[in-house]
Amino acid sequence: MAASFVVREMKTKAEMDAIMDVIWTANYDPYDTYAQLFFPVLGYTASAREAAMAESKDRFWETHNSTPTSNWFYVENVTTGQVVGCAQWEIHTQNPFKAGAPTPRAPWWPEGEYRDFCEEIVRQVYTPRTNWMRRPHLALNWMAVLPTCRGKGIGSLLMSIGTERADALGVECWMEASGMGKKLYEKHGFRSLFKMHFDMERKNASDVWRKCMHELTPTSVYPMWRPKHGIWELEGDSIQFPWERGAA
Ligand SMILES: CC(C)(COP(=O)(O)OP(=O)(O)OC[C@H]1O[C@@H](n2cnc3c(N)ncnc32)[C@H](O)[C@@H]1OP(=O)(O)O)[C@@H](O)C(=O)NCCC(=O)NCCS
Repeated sequence: MAASFVVREMKTKAEMDAIMDVIWTANYDPYDTYAQLFFPVLGYTASAREAAMAESKDRFWETHNSTPTSNWFYVENVTTGQVVGCAQWEIHTQNPFKAGAPTPRAPWWPEGEYRDFCEEIVRQVYTPRTNWMRRPHLALNWMAVLPTCRGKGIGSLLMSIGTERADALGVECWMEASGMGKKLYEKHGFRSLFKMHFDMERKNASDVWRKCMHELTPTSVYPMWRPKHGIWELEGDSIQFPWERGAA
């Protein structure tokens, strides 16, 4: 019997924990260094990994509760009750960057060069978003589907939740995509604006910084944008890209 899936909005800590299990599993298969930036495993034992998972679950739950624009959705296999996919949609009805680009902070890393490295990557990743999306918009983060459940339309269900909300509000959408997610987002009206590589070279870099470059530099990401209603072809008019628009 074919499994059927339903999208639900996350409300409880138990649901957040199940979502984080999906994010960890999805980001280790295939392994993506991006995961290590946000979920450092500080040690080499199974208990170090368990501690990192527990810390990330508490951190994401606290961040969600202190962020009014945060909306988490997950997909459940109706037959088994298993959480198989998730996504966070930030719904901004106003310019979220009125005070300028936020200073990147990564306090989940111990103080030192690993933390500095992570903060610099975060700064680079979010610079296009914080400079160009100074208007009401929806932003997608943390799209993930369990490896065993991919290719069944679960990612699409999570996309539709956000794009339908964006279209009802008449606003643009934004995200930073992995190479693996790009095709899915294109099917939902996003297009890549450019391909972003990370330049972490430093003059007189320490051994620790060089190790960070090797271990933590993410593969390229694609800043992707979706115009209002996903309409790219305008009759008699040309599309205005994010950098051509002002703040609202
Ligand atoms: C990217 C990801 C979320 C896709 O989820 P999914 O549930 O497999 O996606 P869907 O089954 O809904 O795919 C929807 C459509 O996109 C296409 N698609 C999805 N991923 C694709 C891929 N990697 N390559 C080519 N096409 C892809 C599907 O073929 C499908 O097309 P169709 O509607 O014509 O059949 C999933 O592969 C994943 O979790 N990857 C690891 C984590 C990750 O990279 N997340 C994205 C971070 S930005």
